[in-house]
Amino acid sequence: NKLLVLHGPNLNLLGTRQPEVYGHQTLEDIDDALRERAAGGGWELHCRQSNHEGELIDAIHAARLDGTAAIIINPAAYTHTSVAILDALNAFDGRVIEVHLSNVHKREAFRHHSYVSLRADGVIAGLGSRGYLAALDAVMAG
Ligand code: DQA
Repeated sequence: NKLLVLHGPNLNLLGTRQPEVYGHQTLEDIDDALRERAAGGGWELHCRQSNHEGELIDAIHAARLDGTAAIIINPAAYTHTSVAILDALNAFDGRVIEVHLSNVHKREAFRHHSYVSLRADGVIAGLGSRGYLAALDAVMAG
């Protein structure tokens, strides 16, 4: 029971990056909480952050082959631009949950459209880091 959590560009700066928008938790805090919760449910969770579109795509390709059952992804700014990440996710057979810390629909118009939502089975936005935990709970519930 393997799960992949993918974080897109600039999310390595969490905790210090616009905390009024993205919160005070670091990415490490978030990943630690997710790993712990997943382990409690008997799931093996792998976390990956990249500032590079191609690396995110490579990670999705690897997930197709290594038995990963679901991907929880915050594509960050690539949400709004990346047909390539959408195409990669379309080639992945498991579940896909899209997570955004902020409520993108309350923000600039360019954040209202998501390419990834064309593939995602579920979308969570605006709940901060709790959104990742909610996504994880949904995946583990089956
Ligand atoms: C984000 C929202 C995106 O619009 C933005 O580019 C991010 C983070 C979020 O988690 O709220 O980097 O995905």
